[in-house]
Amino acid sequence: MWVLSSALSAARWDAVASSGSVQSMNQTQGQPADVVAPSGPLAPSPKDRVGPGPERLPALLTEIDHVAIAVEDLDAAIDWYRQVFGAEVVARERVDRDGVEEALLGVADSFIQLLTPIREDSPVAKFLQTRGQGIHHVGYRVADCATALEAVKRAGVPTIDAQPRPGSRGTTVAFVHPKGALGTLIELVEA
Ligand code: CO
Repeated sequence: MWVLSSALSAARWDAVASSGSVQSMNQTQGQPADVVAPSGPLAPSPKDRVGPGPERLPALLTEIDHVAIAVEDLDAAIDWYRQVFGAEVVARERVDRDGVEEALLGVADSFIQLLTPIREDSPVAKFLQTRGQGIHHVGYRVADCATALEAVKRAGVPTIDAQPRPGSRGTTVAFVHPKGALGTLIELVEA
């Protein structure tokens, strides 16, 4: 009996998927409004329901690598995180190419990245002048930066880096332009 009911549930799910609405399923089959998703062995797994269309993309993001916060005074910011949250610095590095000094505070497998400019012409210096302290970008970890960057380009999203480049900690990174990314500066990080 459970096999039959699961098969029926799956058929109803197909009806929902193809009609695109629970409402029309109710009209055609008279099902109660709270019947939305089937359960049981024939139910679609969550990954079957993601993706914008028939072409299903592999999941490219494997972890939130870091949240980067622009600060005026790196030592003061480190002290603030230590005193308020007991967070500790696990790495500190000057990245001359980007004109910043960063401190990484460990949070499970991710980091809070405190960023401060070391030059007037650093993008972070300009950010602080115009926006003040706050979240500067989000780093998403990926298995392969080049693959993820190509996927971004294929989607027609503008990028800041045309090719992957060295980041801090020996990572390989590429930045996606916030203009095409819901207003968020995104860094793809291959650790
Ligand atoms: Co970063």
